[in-house]
Amino acid sequence: MSELHTEHREPAAPAERSDSAANQLWGGRFARGPAAVMERINASIGFDCRLAEQDIRGSIAHARMLADRGIIAGGDADAIIAGLTEIAADIAAGRFAFKVELEDIHMNVEAALAERIGAPAGRLHTARSRNDQVATDFRLWVRDALDRLEDGLKALQTALIERAEAHAATVMPGFTHLQSAQPVTFGHHMLAYVEMLGRDRSRVRDARARMNECPLGAAALAGTPFPIDRWSTTTALGFDRPTANSLDSVSDRDFALDYLATAAIAAVHLSRLAEEFVLWTSDQFRFVRLSDAFSTGSSIMPQKRNPDAAELVRAKSGRIIGHLMGLLTVVKALPLAYAKDLQEDKEPVFDVDDSLGLCVAALTGMVGDMTVDQVAMRRAAAVGHPTATDLADWLVRALGLPFRQAHHITARIVAEADARHTDLGGVPLAAMQVIEPQITAEVFDVLGLDAAVASRTSLGGTAPETVRRAAAAARERYL
Ligand code: ARG
Repeated sequence: MSELHTEHREPAAPAERSDSAANQLWGGRFARGPAAVMERINASIGFDCRLAEQDIRGSIAHARMLADRGIIAGGDADAIIAGLTEIAADIAAGRFAFKVELEDIHMNVEAALAERIGAPAGRLHTARSRNDQVATDFRLWVRDALDRLEDGLKALQTALIERAEAHAATVMPGFTHLQSAQPVTFGHHMLAYVEMLGRDRSRVRDARARMNECPLGAAALAGTPFPIDRWSTTTALGFDRPTANSLDSVSDRDFALDYLATAAIAAVHLSRLAEEFVLWTSDQFRFVRLSDAFSTGSSIMPQKRNPDAAELVRAKSGRIIGHLMGLLTVVKALPLAYAKDLQEDKEPVFDVDDSLGLCVAALTGMVGDMTVDQVAMRRAAAVGHPTATDLADWLVRALGLPFRQAHHITARIVAEADARHTDLGGVPLAAMQVIEPQITAEVFDVLGLDAAVASRTSLGGTAPETVRRAAAAARERYL
């Protein structure tokens, strides 16, 4: 037990103590190292090693600025930059040993730099703190994650648009309440997801534009007395401007929340498409067959082809939404400025980048590889009197009836069709005329599936011609 704390109960076992000495970077006033459990709860190197490249980029920009402003000697900056460049290469090549006793990526890199170049390494941390350092590193990382997400979503849109073009006239049932409603085309259905992903991409761009400010130079929380040039590091790191307030700079994690919120909405869209795959590949639908590359078998039922990837895309949306809730909750009641709670910001973001990246890639593969069963779609589209609305619309247009009355008459013709175990086109004209004497044989022109979809030429509608134009417009707008 630590001599500094009096325990009121007998410890079950002597607390483990790490054999490390006091931390070499901040342990000046510490006589000994942390308890093993303290080291474990405190260390972030197990995950923030993923910030290595960003950390080194930030340090190089900082060192250069310090020398330009005469805060450190040019020769020291050169040594620092050369050392950091070597370290970056070692890390990229997997030749770097991360040490848990050095807590995080920032101190791992700085300690390695000291080993390599000696005394000048000690000058790198002038006019900065790990608080503005980590805020900078993490923004750089999230910015790359946003760019990756946008690229992935664009690739998925490309696959969807290609399918839309090929299936602009492929008739399938359109559903409301998952009940057959009106026929649509498969191409139209694909383009619906292209629109969702287009909004996702616009959220990605908004988030990126909002977050692209450089916190470096806020130092621990209050700024620094050194004559730094924040615009210099801002420009070197590709940010649009420096952040305006030092307290906000080290405590703000909106950029991570924005990323997670954007990711969560995108994941929900992917989950909806994945759910459609689960339905469509079932024996009850058979609209789509996934390729072998995107199906799995059952270890007991030899006939099975399971859509596991689609199910996992559906499920991963749950953990992505969870990570958004998690980080919102971490940040919710934090007083200004930095608190170690903020170290918990990284794992959710890393996991979302991994998970969502997989989801986007898997769906892109599935869409590109699937076989569309046009016969099964058409067969399903014919079930459930899907052209009843077309009949009602005809009564309005041809006979001048009010829509409400047309609806009523159509319902009676639907009942007649059911009584005869046929579809609307199978009800003889005479039987229709018993219900509404003014009906003529022309009504049969609107009762077919192809006529129904072809008639819906309104902007954004499902007519094959309209879908072809929409696909061309989507190409123009998104690709
Ligand atoms: N590993 C820390 C984090 O991720 C870096 C910042 C530490 N700052 C501090 N004052 N202890 O948040």
